[in-house]
Amino acid sequence: MSSVRIGVLISGSGTNLQALIDGVDAGEINGEICVVISDKEHAYGLVRAKKNGIDTAFVNRKDFLNDIDFNRKILEELKKRDIELVVLAGYLKILSSEFINEYKNRIINIHPSLIPSFCGKGYYGEKVHRAVLEYGVKVTGATVHFVDEGADTGPIIFQKSVRISEEDDVESLRNKVLKVEHVLLTEAVSLYCSGKINVNDRKVIVGE
Ligand code: GRF
Repeated sequence: MSSVRIGVLISGSGTNLQALIDGVDAGEINGEICVVISDKEHAYGLVRAKKNGIDTAFVNRKDFLNDIDFNRKILEELKKRDIELVVLAGYLKILSSEFINEYKNRIINIHPSLIPSFCGKGYYGEKVHRAVLEYGVKVTGATVHFVDEGADTGPIIFQKSVRISEEDDVESLRNKVLKVEHVLLTEAVSLYCSGKINVNDRKVIVGE
């Protein structure tokens, strides 16, 4: 099977991106990260990409009249590099319908909770962990899933739980969940790039 051309979208520090870079370097992922695109000019993930010789692009929402045109620009950046798989690694903008249809079942997202809890509109970044702690649940976790038109509603690939202790605060919980995210995301991208992930309606089937 030929190596899969991967495009990663980020908005922040890019520790999930780093996990993918490490996975590719270690030969665990049969793919190549061909571009990292950020909607934030100073996202540290762009520095990580450059340090690893990966092509980068900054696409500023403010340069476009609407979300459709903004998304078209990102699509253009992906398509000119023949990207086959898009990974959202801490990317905070909503994708347009056109984008999602163009890459149907080829966009993977990582979310820092056990979907369908603490997800959807308004649940991103630290807000997720704050809501988890305020609610008082004893278990949270991470979910890696394909992206459909809803907010965090696409077919789930993997989930893993994380126990919450009485001492946890937003920072400690975020760090615990991030560790799990890195493992889940790398595993999901690895299986995808080996052609072992199939989607049947809402169900993701992971093959041998
Ligand atoms: C992660 O928790 C991810 O699940 C969420 O935003 C965070 C990004 O972290 N969507 P990083 O940029 O990969 O370090």
